[in-house]
Amino acid sequence: MKILIVGATGTIGKAVATALSSQHEVISAGFSDGDVKVDLGSKASIEAMFKSVGQVDAVISTAGLAGFAPFNELDDAAYDLALSNKLMGQVNLVRLGRNHVSDGGSFTLTAGILSRNPMPGSVVISMANGALESFARSAALELDRGHRVNTVSPVFVKETMEMMGMDSSTGLSAADTAKAYIAAVEGGMTGQTLDAPDYA
Ligand SMILES: NC(=O)c1ccc[n+]([C@@H]2O[C@H](COP(=O)([O-])OP(=O)(O)OC[C@H]3O[C@@H](n4cnc5c(N)ncnc54)[C@H](OP(=O)(O)O)[C@@H]3O)[C@@H](O)[C@H]2O)c1
Repeated sequence: MKILIVGATGTIGKAVATALSSQHEVISAGFSDGDVKVDLGSKASIEAMFKSVGQVDAVISTAGLAGFAPFNELDDAAYDLALSNKLMGQVNLVRLGRNHVSDGGSFTLTAGILSRNPMPGSVVISMANGALESFARSAALELDRGHRVNTVSPVFVKETMEMMGMDSSTGLSAADTAKAYIAAVEGGMTGQTLDAPDYA
């Protein structure tokens, strides 16, 4: 399969690209690096990316910006970023990508465990994650040409925890997290949320 990975230069995306590249042709997309550059916050940029990449069999997103902040400190910009980038950026990959994905192809988006297991400071991330899961569940009912759409829900990634100076013993490695993305692309499910620990 020819697979476009948006966010392929990131912690999870790199592991997904590595895992897929032995069996598939991977095209990497990132904000500042990759085979193609894209800004998820811009529909024009997403459209330009699909035009330059051409037809693919699967689109994976391991991108999406949203910030941690206490509820009392969340300003309009914090909500806007989560909604326009993490949520609508990934939704727009499906809306704009449909004509560039072959029959039977798939979209795999990234949500996260904070939708169902929130913590103080996670409001806008949890909100975007929950909306992404609901988007995939409902859009799956209407996508045509055999297209599938799923979300992967990662837990805290070990490498991320280490980068943040945290104890990473409760985390899941990026390589193990990547296994859920492989399952979503190579499997037949649609409308599902794949909890990363279930595939590790
Ligand atoms: N890591 C975790 O512990 C964890 C846990 C749960 C959920 N998640 C979710 O998983 C996803 C990936 O996390 P990560 O830790 O792998 O992130 P990361 O290491 O920060 O990588 C993010 C990737 O997204 C790209 N990107 C950044 N801004 C972008 C934009 N405006 N448009 C398009 N691409 C953009 C980056 O490209 P550049 O490198 O070029 O900037 C990079 O490839 C996020 O949605 C995150 O919320 C992560």
